[in-house]
Amino acid sequence: MKRNIIITGGAGFIGSHVVRLFVNKYPDYRIINLDKLTYAGNLANLKDVEDKPNYRFVKMDICDFQGVLNLMKEEQVDGIIHLAAESHVDRSIKDPFTFAQTNVMGTLSLLQAAKLCWESLPEKYHGKRFYHISTDEVYGALELTHPAGIQPPFSTKASSGKNHLAYGDKFFTEDLKYQPHSPYSAAKASSDHFVRAFHDTYGLPTVVTNCSNNYGPCQFPEKLIPLFINNIRHRKPLPVYGRGENVRDWLYVVDHARAIDAIFHQGRIAETYNIGGFNEWKNIDIIRLLIRTVDRLLGRSEGEDDRLITFVTDRAGHDMRYAIDSTKLQRELGWEPSLQFEEGIELTARWYLDNQQWMDNVTNGDYLKYYEDMYARR
Ligand code: NAD
Ligand code: TYD
Repeated sequence: MKRNIIITGGAGFIGSHVVRLFVNKYPDYRIINLDKLTYAGNLANLKDVEDKPNYRFVKMDICDFQGVLNLMKEEQVDGIIHLAAESHVDRSIKDPFTFAQTNVMGTLSLLQAAKLCWESLPEKYHGKRFYHISTDEVYGALELTHPAGIQPPFSTKASSGKNHLAYGDKFFTEDLKYQPHSPYSAAKASSDHFVRAFHDTYGLPTVVTNCSNNYGPCQFPEKLIPLFINNIRHRKPLPVYGRGENVRDWLYVVDHARAIDAIFHQGRIAETYNIGGFNEWKNIDIIRLLIRTVDRLLGRSEGEDDRLITFVTDRAGHDMRYAIDSTKLQRELGWEPSLQFEEGIELTARWYLDNQQWMDNVTNGDYLKYYEDMYARR
């Protein structure tokens, strides 16, 4: 079947992996990457697909309602996979307005354009789909009821590594109340509510997914894993917030893209699916794993860069633990992560070390200014 799909935020970290998967896997689909190219958007992430005949890039702001509506009509779009967002918690603490504008108003602009475009067609919403990508951070924070870790009640390939533990009894399930704490997660939560409202009010065929922390190639180096790989390489301090006890649940980005593919095609309309690999890690344990991995790959003695660990003032409102229960997705669609965490970290570290030019290109100019300001405040 032929489809015309807009993927928003396709030049960003996760979006670029989704664009690549769809362009290569579905040559009969037309994939339109709609991206404003903020500091986080980078067309170099898509060099290998930019000349494919089923791919088009459009530089546009999702808040440009008329532009989006015109593009949807011009391309006869029947599916939207919406990833464009401001995505970094620390930035949201500094500048919440931009997060409300892009994540809330931008999502509303896309929803309204999809509604107007599709409801005017003879077949209306039949065969259409608006897929909104959200985050587990909307559920708030879980407690660390087992700080030393316990054997996890679930396991997947992602969590089959020898160091894997769970740090609490509770997990994020799809029916949990939203309790966002950061301006980032509050804006994402608000956009999720608008998506549900457009289904319940107008019948727009929507689906929402809430995924745990992603890692992998092409992530902007303001996020923990690429920032620390780069700093270890250059023997710069590793700024660990608080005591490094916070827990995140990590998923390899390509496995997220595979889940998005399955849910776009087979997920039930109006449903929410949580995506995660039952792969909880304390920050400090990941940081030690990153140091050992990078040291080994660079021929240094493993662990010699532990001395770079620098405990700094904690992030304001720092959520203690995220842990996703993705049994609904696994049961309904048979999705499972394909990679074990230590394998994924090795692949990721190798990618950043082999792509220093990519790193240099994104860490000049404004990036340096941003980090000077961040560190000056500590
Ligand atoms: P990212 O910051 O790497 O990329 C965001 C992309 O959106 C960039 O290409 C940027 O140019 C584009 N963009 C930003 N504002 C825009 C606007 N107004 N109009 C058009 N394009 C705009 O983000 P990411 O980490 O790839 O996250 C993608 C999505 O997945 C986000 O919605 C995020 O909330 C969600 N998510 C991320 C994670 C994670 O760990 N990174 C986990 C779960 C969910
Ligand atoms: P991050 O990658 O920003 O993702 P999120 O805040 O969305 O979970 O951060 C992951 C964890 O690492 C989080 O607990 C904050 C912590 N962290 C640090 O300790 N130091 C850093 O420099 C960064 C960027 C994050």
